[in-house]
Amino acid sequence: MGNFKNINTALIHGGISKDERTGAVNVPIYQTSTYQQDGLGKIRGYEYSRTGNPTREALEALIAELEGGYAGFAFGSGMAATTAVLSLLHSGDRVLISSNVYGGTFRVLDKVFNHFNILYSIADTTDLNTFEQAITPEVRAVMIESPANPLMTVTDIAAVAQIAHQHGLLVIVDNTFMTPYLQRPLELGADIVVHSATKYLGGHSDVVAGLAVVSTKELADQIAFIQNSTGGVLPPFDSFLLIRGIKTLGVRMDRHVENAVKAAEFLKKHPAVKQVYYPGLPDAQGYEINQKQAKNGGVMISFELHENYDIGVFFESLKLIMLAESLGGVESLVCHPSTMTHAAIPADIRQKVGITDGLIRLSTGIEDIADILADLEQAIAKSEVK
Ligand SMILES: Cc1ncc(COP(=O)(O)O)c(C=O)c1O
Repeated sequence: MGNFKNINTALIHGGISKDERTGAVNVPIYQTSTYQQDGLGKIRGYEYSRTGNPTREALEALIAELEGGYAGFAFGSGMAATTAVLSLLHSGDRVLISSNVYGGTFRVLDKVFNHFNILYSIADTTDLNTFEQAITPEVRAVMIESPANPLMTVTDIAAVAQIAHQHGLLVIVDNTFMTPYLQRPLELGADIVVHSATKYLGGHSDVVAGLAVVSTKELADQIAFIQNSTGGVLPPFDSFLLIRGIKTLGVRMDRHVENAVKAAEFLKKHPAVKQVYYPGLPDAQGYEINQKQAKNGGVMISFELHENYDIGVFFESLKLIMLAESLGGVESLVCHPSTMTHAAIPADIRQKVGITDGLIRLSTGIEDIADILADLEQAIAKSEVK
């Protein structure tokens, strides 16, 4: 973790955390598109803000340090970060993706990259044999999430990275659900980490942003070139907001996780609940692997109610917890993956990978846990079909 041994300190002082010129304890918002040059070829380090901006650079240095990478890159959304990373591939290449990935990742491959003859295969990366068998000669990269969205399936990142590297593949991990506070995929052997920083890193549901961190100079040069060429950069003000959000990541995540564990235990015991997916429960798929590679089970929970509960009524009856896309903000949110976050995945694939129409995803916020549980309880009670 760069200069700081402890992540709680690195979150606040990592990367470029202050303004050396003025002593300002926060990096200023350099709201400028261009920079004066002192003469032909005499630049002071910045030429144009698509190529480089000091506020964005401070954020990029911070996330690189937190993830333990060589360099970081900030984009206008998580999808812009993913798109930049997938742009490393060439026509004829194929990427293997886990069976549960964010619907938007599936969509950009299925509907955009296929125009350039960059194809994808879906593999169950929780099963190492199935994963290895899916590596055909044209596969160049593997992209995984662990825990994966929305069934919280856990993939052994170190094992996948090892197998992938034996086949010469690039290993990309979407670390949105965990953040470097809970899991650092580069230390487990991944080559690239991507984030929807819109989620826990920003933490307040007020900014859409994406980050990518790479492990080597070679990858850094390539992504820097793609970032500047395709231009999906994060603006200075949004970079400032993310730096601000990241400073409190540790305290927020501790409370988020504490609440999530209580919510998962509550749901697990509830007679109306058929199934709970939360990697922090000892009987969850991949519990041991997750314990090995992450600090804890994270925050995201999915669950299903029994057939005699109407989930439409459940969503409408919630008073505190809001029905909304996204996750990772201080407020609790729920969503219905099959019609919201994962609607881009065709119904037959959704059914095959277990994203049922009854699945509910909960992003446990940092409100008082008693209020969160009371809200779940009353909405469940109202949704029972008598
Ligand atoms: C795991 C994951 N990855 C990527 C994304 C895409 O990020 P963004 O919405 O910031 O483009 C999301 C968004 O929900 C996500 O949940």
